[in-house]
Amino acid sequence: MITTDITIESADEATLPALLSLLAASGLPPEGLSDHLPTALIARDHDQVIGSAALELYGSSALLRSVAVAPAYQGQGLGQQLTRAAIDLAQQRGVTDLYLLTETAGAFFPKFGFSPIDRADVPTQVKESLEFTTLCPDSALVMAASVPAK
Ligand SMILES: CC(C)(COP(=O)(O)OP(=O)(O)OC[C@H]1O[C@@H](n2cnc3c(N)ncnc32)[C@H](O)[C@@H]1OP(=O)(O)O)[C@@H](O)C(=O)NCCC(=O)NCCS
Repeated sequence: MITTDITIESADEATLPALLSLLAASGLPPEGLSDHLPTALIARDHDQVIGSAALELYGSSALLRSVAVAPAYQGQGLGQQLTRAAIDLAQQRGVTDLYLLTETAGAFFPKFGFSPIDRADVPTQVKESLEFTTLCPDSALVMAASVPAK
């Protein structure tokens, strides 16, 4: 079980270095994340950053990225909690369509309404994001989900 000491909160400049370390350790790209700090979430256990999930907002669309949980904390529901928190944030921001790219966790996201789509069906603004243009190889799975209106 996750202890009550774990909190989910917004990332900021102070927590960015630890967030980037978590991404590196998780094999996820760091590029571009610092441009989206206001919509980046972290899970903290006291002063340790142990999880993350972030949104890149592009109008009514958003890219869900950087979903990661430190190995010692995996398998306790934290990844799902972070994903739900990011989807809630998307809903608060008026996002109607969420997209993500993944090479390793395609089976993690369907429970949140994500299903695979063709890259061609991704809106231009999302497709022009750093993650799409430079970071994730063409072989990465693209998934999309609708966000119900708040
Ligand atoms: C994916 C990840 C965030 C899951 O975090 P977690 O805290 O272990 O997940 P939870 O405990 O909330 O959820 C566990 C469930 O997810 C499933 N799951 C965990 N990692 C998975 C993966 N890589 N692929 C498919 N399913 C996965 C588990 O089998 C379990 O399923 P169940 O509830 O049906 O038993 C974590 O494994 C991770 O950080 N991976 C490396 C980074 C990554 O690949 N991120 C996704 C791309 S952005």
